[in-house]
Amino acid sequence: MSYAIVYSSRTGNTEQLARAVRESLPGQECLYFGPPDEAALEAQTVYAGFWTDKGSCDEEMAHFLKSLTNQSVFLFGTAGFGGAPAYFEQILGRVRENLAPTVCLLGEYMCQGKMPQTVRERYESMEAGPRRDAMLTNFDQAKAHPDERDLAQLAAAVRG
Ligand SMILES: Cc1cc2nc3c(=O)[nH]c(=O)nc-3n(C[C@H](O)[C@H](O)[C@H](O)COP(=O)(O)O)c2cc1C
Repeated sequence: MSYAIVYSSRTGNTEQLARAVRESLPGQECLYFGPPDEAALEAQTVYAGFWTDKGSCDEEMAHFLKSLTNQSVFLFGTAGFGGAPAYFEQILGRVRENLAPTVCLLGEYMCQGKMPQTVRERYESMEAGPRRDAMLTNFDQAKAHPDERDLAQLAAAVRG
């Protein structure tokens, strides 16, 4: 069955996931690999990767997901905050709202993704206290992600 891997990635985290998806699937059936593009709509199955912006997928991916009609879709994404699985579930819930009821959801996967150093500097300038500490701890935790384990888990989820 033909498939497409479509992803948006500003700083490369989601692109790493997209490459892991590509490596876990049979290459000859890949119709499209790259940023959101109408060409990907020809595939029966679409692996759609997003980065988290304001608690949902980025605008470019939201627009693309809305253009799907009757394909099967596997959603994958990265987010700066990663402590609680419930947070990922909340994001995925918002991302799913972009899908028409005729689109079949095959699976989902999310992991944490590192953020630019400027974000840490912003946290450092916050008023000292538990909130600042939590932000800094999360930032430092995110630094290593996506890691090999994240990519292996994604590959396993994709192979179903
Ligand atoms: C403008 C902007 C907004 C962001 N908003 C969120 C957010 O609401 N929640 C979150 O967990 N991470 C947020 N992040 C962090 C990114 O989603 C995260 O670092 C992601 O892995 C980036 O993926 P990319 O490297 O593929 O661009 C934001 C990052 C930027 C630059």
